[in-house]
Amino acid sequence: MIEAKELSTTFQSLCGSEPRIYRAPARVNLIGEHTDYNEGFVMPAAINFSTWVTVTPRDDRVIAVSSENFQETFKFDLDDKTARERGHWSDYVRGVALTLEQAGYRLKGAQLQIRGDVPIGAGLSSSASIEVATGYALLQHSGFAIERIELAKLCQRAEQNFVGMRCGIMDQFVACHGQEGRALLLDCRSLEYELLPLPEDVRLVICNTMVKHQLAGSEYNQRRSECEEGVHHLARALPDVRALRDVSLADLEAHGRELPEAVYRRCRHVISENTRVLQAKTALENRDLSEFGQLMNESHRSLRDDYEVSCAELDLMVELAREAHGVYGARMTGGGFGGCTINLVKAESCTDFRDSVAREYERATGVAPEIYVCRAAVGVSEVAADSLSN
Ligand code: GLA
Repeated sequence: MIEAKELSTTFQSLCGSEPRIYRAPARVNLIGEHTDYNEGFVMPAAINFSTWVTVTPRDDRVIAVSSENFQETFKFDLDDKTARERGHWSDYVRGVALTLEQAGYRLKGAQLQIRGDVPIGAGLSSSASIEVATGYALLQHSGFAIERIELAKLCQRAEQNFVGMRCGIMDQFVACHGQEGRALLLDCRSLEYELLPLPEDVRLVICNTMVKHQLAGSEYNQRRSECEEGVHHLARALPDVRALRDVSLADLEAHGRELPEAVYRRCRHVISENTRVLQAKTALENRDLSEFGQLMNESHRSLRDDYEVSCAELDLMVELAREAHGVYGARMTGGGFGGCTINLVKAESCTDFRDSVAREYERATGVAPEIYVCRAAVGVSEVAADSLSN
């Protein structure tokens, strides 16, 4: 993870003496996968991997961006509304700027330096992190105070309309609303949320299979269409159904038998996952981590067998975790098809867990995984330049 002091020094040398710096976190999802775009429930946490954006003013309407990670620069004119996505990291920046402008926020030109330590393509939502950090930075720079909820929605819109990924609201929402030491339970229909304290004696351990996922690839959007097909069919018998959120397993049993078999299973995953999230909330409130872990394990099974978004490496990583000591539960996290697992591990067992999972995963695949012990972190914020050197 990025050292604050190092960051401050680099930025100061690039921008002059008083840079304004903003940061937004990545996220890990504890439970509630592929439920957000079905108007259901999710329980992510913001984590201490971040994207940092430094802003210096320009007197025209040009946004000039340089990325330290990619060692690339690019610029665009805010008055050029004809931009199209290019399949490039800059799409996230340009998409957000364009979407903010379309929503009526007239932005000022700026020089942006972007740097991040979020593993890319690992299912930890580096995309929402860059969108929210950039959006917040551009708005602050242009003198707008915006509700966090509005920022999350506009960043989601940028990803859907500009980047072309029909994502839900979870990632952008938690990048805006995360809190230290808290998981966030979000109702993706009403956008009401609760911050749930995580016990101090457990750690969020993230295991990276090192298989890069390709979410913008057709699979994610295809799952969404399958869910919509399910809703369309079920609503004929159940007119109050607007989303899978409104369907129970009994409803699915009674009215879903004519659905294509794969669509039936997609619906079963979403419906059962929504129930698991609410049960997980109760378990967390009761400090029943064994129950919470069981629900994580069931979530993985359902994602693997019914939703079919896991892969051999994720399944292996989950199995190895379950063989280690001190683990309450393990599951894939994020969109799937590679990326990471999330493991709820007793604090005192973390080192052993890390060693044994890394060793066994490398033995089986020949690939050394990355394992991160994370803490739940705060959402997007301005970082005082002087606080960085602490
Ligand atoms: C991606 C999307 C989210 C969510 C997850 C799956 O991270 O951006 O909106 O749908 O996949 O739970």
